[in-house]
Amino acid sequence: MIDTIVWQEQGIQQAAETLRRGGLVAFPTETVYGLGADARSSEAVAGIFGAKGRPSDNPLIVHIADRSQLGELVEPYPALAGELMERFWPGPLTIVLPAKPGALSPLVTANLPTVGVRMPDHPLALELLSRAGVPVAAPSANRSGRPSPTLAGHVLEDLGGRIDGVIDGGATGVGLESTVVELEGNGAIRILRPGGVTEEALKRAFPAVSVISEAETGEQPAKPRSPGMKYTHYAPRGELTVVQGPEERVISYINLLAEEARHEGMKTGVLAFSEHAGSYRADLVLDLGSENRLDEAAHRLYAHLRKLDEAGVGRIWSEGCEPGGLGGALMNRMLKAAGGRAIRLDR
Ligand code: TXA
Ligand code: MG
Repeated sequence: MIDTIVWQEQGIQQAAETLRRGGLVAFPTETVYGLGADARSSEAVAGIFGAKGRPSDNPLIVHIADRSQLGELVEPYPALAGELMERFWPGPLTIVLPAKPGALSPLVTANLPTVGVRMPDHPLALELLSRAGVPVAAPSANRSGRPSPTLAGHVLEDLGGRIDGVIDGGATGVGLESTVVELEGNGAIRILRPGGVTEEALKRAFPAVSVISEAETGEQPAKPRSPGMKYTHYAPRGELTVVQGPEERVISYINLLAEEARHEGMKTGVLAFSEHAGSYRADLVLDLGSENRLDEAAHRLYAHLRKLDEAGVGRIWSEGCEPGGLGGALMNRMLKAAGGRAIRLDR
């Protein structure tokens, strides 16, 4: 056990020095809190895997504050990658680029020839990264298998005593991890992980480019291109099922199953949009916000999953949403948290 320091904004210089010394520093981004270490140092990066209990074949995203840092990290990349940076950085877009051999710890890339890079859109993250002056590898700052942290308190719950410190920047904005994209040889953009930059936004920005999206379901492709997609991430301790269909049917179905579960002595929970939250009978009903504001649901989802754990809820049902816009990323995370358990009710 080590003492984990909680830094406020004034502590950023100390946090940056901790990173430069090879320490582990959690910091807020616009998506979720990340757990950072110097991406060039295998010793430092090994600390991330140790603290998180993360499988080592899952590569990490490298965070930079300035495009001038790219030269030492990656090989020449397609012009489209530069245009993506121009349009979406700083922001929730990770771009998979050809890695410069020897520039990064092989633990960061999990020995792939590529590296995922992003510039986070958060003033404290950018300040930390530029003061540290080193490329910072940072996965989400949760124990592996737990929901990603959207508050400094979540980081402490999972990693307190295991990392050097966390910068407290309050609640993160988007609430879901960045969109990860790869550029295909034929010039297409492939979305490996849906996130804050939506498929629609990519198509709007580059109408002449084809944008390919991997399955939005929780089903596991046989050989995932983004290694992280094959793990059951973000899982609450209770058993979660996503239910979709006409609202009346969804409500009565969930209420029926919740009543049965309660008879069996189980604590029950429901994640519902504001429009229907009052219609559920469960021990804990958590409001995702309006179904017309999926950004709000994205912002709340992970904190809600943690609350369900804290309350010791054994069976959870969540309303689903349509896959347009942020709905794609939201459903992707919900289905992952549910380990793929989903039910679609007919009319
Ligand atoms: O929003 C985010 O991206 C957060 C914050 C902290 O920046 N970070 C994050 O990191 O979500 P992590 O490690 O939890 O997820 C990284 C994802 C994984 O799905 C991983 O497989 C994929 O990015 N990835 C990383 N490098 C890759 C590469 N070279 N090729 C394909 N996928 C890669
Ligand atoms: Mg993660």
